[in-house]
Amino acid sequence: MQGARIISVGSAVPDLRINNRDISQIVETSDEWIVTRTGIKERRVLTGANKSVVDLAYHAAMKALHNIRMDPLEIDLIILATSSPNDLFGSASKVQAKIGAKKAVAFDLTAACSGFVLAIVTAAQFVQNGSYKNILIIGADVLSKWIDWSDRKTCILFGDGAGAAIIQACSEEDNAILGFQLNTDGKQSDELSITYKENPYSLNTFQLFQGQFQYISMNGKEVYKFAVSKVPASITKCLNALDLSTKDVNWLLLHQANKRILKAVADRLSIDTCKIISNLSKYGNTSAASIPLALDEALQNNKITKEDIIVISGFGAGLTWGTVVIKWKC
Ligand code: COA
Repeated sequence: MQGARIISVGSAVPDLRINNRDISQIVETSDEWIVTRTGIKERRVLTGANKSVVDLAYHAAMKALHNIRMDPLEIDLIILATSSPNDLFGSASKVQAKIGAKKAVAFDLTAACSGFVLAIVTAAQFVQNGSYKNILIIGADVLSKWIDWSDRKTCILFGDGAGAAIIQACSEEDNAILGFQLNTDGKQSDELSITYKENPYSLNTFQLFQGQFQYISMNGKEVYKFAVSKVPASITKCLNALDLSTKDVNWLLLHQANKRILKAVADRLSIDTCKIISNLSKYGNTSAASIPLALDEALQNNKITKEDIIVISGFGAGLTWGTVVIKWKC
């Protein structure tokens, strides 16, 4: 078996900031309500004609490549974790063309806010089994395009962003992607979704159906309960399988959904809150982008040092949730 490790990270957010006061001009809410219930103070929103998730993914990917002066031609595979592509056939190929990674195969991975965890795990399999040497994974979402800005239960939560990481093959002894634990409960898929609604229409003698996607709908209370119960269980299972304990954990890097969820998960695991990596006050819930966005910021602030154990967990629509444990090697 080959080893796999993250050798570079980059991120990108749009310039436009929308703070809680701005939102309180749109729906009946307040800065105090939003901060108390979620910890979010502002979020970034993508604007501009024809700007899409591809632009954010491109900028994040280029930063990750520039950091280590890697030629895009060295990339073998690109995995774009997104639930807001600009093309239902996938946006990864557009990212591949834009960064000039001509030799890379590219595909989208849809797993909502668990997307980046699934992307790390998927990339690690390709690297550890010897198929590929350099894999670019990107978590990018522009959920602002799928928000009902008149629904105060959801419009306060989400923001746009992208984060990228390069996973490279290494010796087995240097393997840094230590283990993972993944789950799906499709029976709860209606708790958080962007549903596709169809209407019948007639074509000659045929009765056909066509429709369009709706806005994000969410049962906030159920999603909250799901996150604070399932995520700690997933982390515990993953650590146990690796013969590690919560005491070995240096950093808890959870999907940045809500500060109360982050704290509740840490409390349930008896992990000190100072080990929580969080930047959601500035960006809100950026779905698949949230984990690499927070990881990049933590690295830039020199929080993470070599040999640190980082527990990364994603959770969200699907419902999906999962954990990957990594040892920082750079
Ligand atoms: N501003 C002001 N009041 C609001 C509001 C807002 N933005 N949104 C809801 N309310 C009101 C409700 O109408 C309700 O009023 P009522 O008691 O008069 O009926 C009250 O606040 C409580 O609403 P509720 O939905 O029970 O709030 P909550 O404590 O569950 O908090 C969330 C709502 C969304 C913050 C919380 O459920 C949550 O964080 N859930 C997880 C969501 C999440 O992270 N999703 C993404 C996962 S990937």
